[in-house]
Amino acid sequence: MYNFTYHNPTKIVFGKGTIAELKNLLSNDLKILLTYGGGSIKKNGVYDQVMTALKEHKVIEYGGIEPNPQYRTCMQAVRIVKNENIDFILSVGGGSVLDASKFIAAAALWRGDEPWDFVRKSLPLEAALPLGCVLTLPATGSESNPNAVISREETGEKLAFIDKHVFPQFAILDPETTYTLPERQVANGVVDTFVHVIEQYLTFPVNAPLQDRLAESILLTLVEEGPKALQNPLDYDTRATLMWAATLALNTLLSRGVPTDWTTHQIGHELTALHGIDHARTLAIFLPAVLKHQKKAKFKKLAQYGRRVWGLAQDDENQVVDQAIAKTIEFFKSLHVPVCLADVNLTPADVRQISASHQQRGSTLGEHGTIGPDEIAEIILLAA
Ligand code: NZQ
Ligand code: ZN
Repeated sequence: MYNFTYHNPTKIVFGKGTIAELKNLLSNDLKILLTYGGGSIKKNGVYDQVMTALKEHKVIEYGGIEPNPQYRTCMQAVRIVKNENIDFILSVGGGSVLDASKFIAAAALWRGDEPWDFVRKSLPLEAALPLGCVLTLPATGSESNPNAVISREETGEKLAFIDKHVFPQFAILDPETTYTLPERQVANGVVDTFVHVIEQYLTFPVNAPLQDRLAESILLTLVEEGPKALQNPLDYDTRATLMWAATLALNTLLSRGVPTDWTTHQIGHELTALHGIDHARTLAIFLPAVLKHQKKAKFKKLAQYGRRVWGLAQDDENQVVDQAIAKTIEFFKSLHVPVCLADVNLTPADVRQISASHQQRGSTLGEHGTIGPDEIAEIILLAA
C-alpha cells in the first residue's frame, strides 16, 4: 500500500427530513447565495423545505445553472457574490449546481485576472467562500469531495479542478429528494458511481486488500440495488443505499494508498464537451473500450473483479477477464444506457477531435501514464 494523507472535512447529515437541519448548520447572520439548476427543486418541494428552514436568514437566489455547468453562467454569479457581499453559498440540486457553486466560491476570492486559470493551469487556490449543499441527485460524489468540473463552450473545454478549499462544509443527503428523478438520471447516477469505484480499483495490485474490499462492496451493492431503484422508485431504502454509495464512491477514501486510472472520465469529458452527451453515458460508452484496450495492464485486477464482483468461477483467467468485461456491458445495458458510440449515433470519425486535444495538451493517461493520443484514438475505435 502506498503512503497517504486522508482528510475529509465535510459533515454529512443523512436521512429523511434533514433539510430542516439547515437552520442549525448556518448561523443567522450569514448572507447566503442559494444556487440551483433548471427548476426541479421548485417542482418537488425541496426549494420550499430549504426556504422554510432559512426563514430567519438573508437569502439571495441564483437559478438556471445548466447540466455540465458553463463558465459564463458561473461568472454571472461571481458578480452577484461580489456586489452583494455574500458570505456563504448553498447549492441545492445535483452535481452540476454544486460544481458550479465550487467554481463561484473559488472565483469570487481569486486574486488573479482570469479565474479560468486555476482550472486550466491547475493553479492552487489561496481561499474560497465557504459552501454547503442539499444534494438531490446521487452520482458525482461532489457533496464531499474537493473536485468540480466546468465547461467552456467557446473553447470546447470541459475541465476538472481539485482544491481542498472547495470541500463543502456540510452536505444534506435526504434520499426522499431523489424520488422525483427521471429514470435516465437514476441510471446515470448508478453508472457514474460504478465507474468512480472502478477507476480507483481496476489498476494493478499493491497489496491493499481493504481498499479492494471496500471498492468491491460498493460495486456489488450497485449491481444489486441499482436496478431496484428503476423498478421501484419510491423504495426509501434503495434510494438511501444508492445515495450513500455515491458519496462513499468519490469522497477521496477509496483512492487512498492505491493507484488510480481516470482515463474513462478524461475521455468522457471530451465527448460531453464536443457532443453534449450526459456525463455518465460517456462513461458507459468508454469504460468497456478502456478495459479491452488495457486488458494486459489491468489483467490481475480484472480477474479479481470478475471473480469477486461477478462470481465468475472458470479456471481460465483469460475467460474470466473477458467475461468480466462482458458482464459490465450487460449491467450497463440493463440500466438502458448506451454502451458504444453507435448507440448515440456517433462514429469514431465524429469524435477524433478527442485524441487531438489530448495531443495539444501533451497529457498522458492511465495508471502507468502510457495512454497518449494514439492509444486514445485506438480506444475510440474500440468504442465504435
Ligand atoms: O437543473 P435541474 O432542474 O435541477 O434538473 C436536474 C438536471 O436536469 C435534474 N435533477 C437533479 N435532481 C433532481 C432532478 N430532477 C428531478 N428531481 C431531482 N431530485 O437532473 C439533471 C442532471 O443534473 P446534474 O446536476 O447535471 O447531474 P449530475 O449530478 O449527474 O452532475 C453531472 C455533472 O457533474 C460532473 C459531471 O461531469 C457533470 O458536469 N462531475 C462532477 C464530479 C465531482 N465534482 O466530483 C465527478 C463526476 O465524475 C462528474 O464529472
Ligand atoms: Zn463521474
